[in-house]
Amino acid sequence: MKTYLVGGAVRDQLLGLPVTERDWVVVGATPEKLYSQGYQAVGRDFPVFLHPQTHEEYALARTERKSAPGYYGFTCDYNKHVTLVDDLARRDLTINAMAMDPNGNLIDPYHGSADLQAKKLRHVSQAFVEDPVRVLRVARFAARYYYLGFTIAEETRALMYSMMRQGELAHLVPERIWQEWMRSLQEKNPEIFIYTLRDCGALQVIFPELDALFGVPNPPQYHPEVDSGVHSLLSLAAAVRLSDDSRVRFAALLHDLGKAKTPITEWPAHHGHEKSGVQIIVSLCKRLRIPADYRKLAVLSVTMHLNIHRVLSLRASTMVSILEETDALRRPERFLQLLLVCEADACGTMSKQVDYPQADMWRAILRVCQNVSVSELIARGVTGKDIQRELHQLRVDAVKRLCSGNKLSY
Ligand code: CTP
Repeated sequence: MKTYLVGGAVRDQLLGLPVTERDWVVVGATPEKLYSQGYQAVGRDFPVFLHPQTHEEYALARTERKSAPGYYGFTCDYNKHVTLVDDLARRDLTINAMAMDPNGNLIDPYHGSADLQAKKLRHVSQAFVEDPVRVLRVARFAARYYYLGFTIAEETRALMYSMMRQGELAHLVPERIWQEWMRSLQEKNPEIFIYTLRDCGALQVIFPELDALFGVPNPPQYHPEVDSGVHSLLSLAAAVRLSDDSRVRFAALLHDLGKAKTPITEWPAHHGHEKSGVQIIVSLCKRLRIPADYRKLAVLSVTMHLNIHRVLSLRASTMVSILEETDALRRPERFLQLLLVCEADACGTMSKQVDYPQADMWRAILRVCQNVSVSELIARGVTGKDIQRELHQLRVDAVKRLCSGNKLSY
């Protein structure tokens, strides 16, 4: 039996990037042989085992054939005569279809290292079409390696487009879509994930809500980029510069979804887009089973982004009401995330330099309100419903002092 390092570990080693996870392929063995050496089976659908000491994944070399539609419709053969080259042939991209033997020799039958040199994401064979998740994976790798200059090979773009045309993406299950989308949000250029899906027509199938924003104009005086879809991608890119938090990035991408609902006769104005965006986000999150913390921040951002932007023209009492409505005093961390989303929105334009003093202003307002303590009211004998009202007033007074100290109007 022989073992080879495969997949992402070989790819990233050749790219000179840190290797975080190592996958191995075992050739010429049987499950019984691996059990006898202390390996433990983990694969439900494939013969994958954990090494007794390192706990890294070792998979028996296998071939796969599509036998039925859907994610689980594969027949897989892992008899001990399956070769390494057979196993590499079933993989998605040439750069993911290389192996390395224990002496560091590269086994590269599909020219993955040439594609690494050429910075191309290219499918290995027609078998690519058997797994529609690969459309999302290619988009994710495009997002990950964009900064290195990688692009998708023309024939792979054409194949992704034809998969979309043939309805293959309908077989994608919500969990896999979200898993790839969420992972893309952690990449250096997650906007390229969305751009790639749009390029092959997949965005319309997978995220029609987002696709609908392209072609919807904004007033050019506020948005030199004009197009709402482009603005959403620029906001996502800005969110990446501001935060590592995937929830902030997700909310920045989706903050303007409501603009797709504006009647054409009102363009380029979008009165009320905050309200119409909420329902769209809620149903998108339900359909893709997106975790609640992502949904909550996205809903808050859709609802509140205009109020946050206009802080400099608000009265102190409105500022405090906004903090209370957004639950900022009990959940300050979420309010701080909201500020990052709003800053990403403001910076998501073609303009070179955008200042966003609103974020600092809100952070200062939050701080002074956090310092207002209820114990003083209780000591004064205030009780029941009056506590809320008096507390609100104390916060308003504190914000007024802050604003006059800063010589800002309120
Ligand atoms: N693979 C594939 N098709 C898929 C999923 C995986 O061909 N739908 C193959 C690829 O060869 C890939 C390997 O299985 O390199 C391991 O998959 P995974 O761990 O998901 O990805 P990595 O390439 O290791 O990338 P990452 O760095 O994102 O983990």
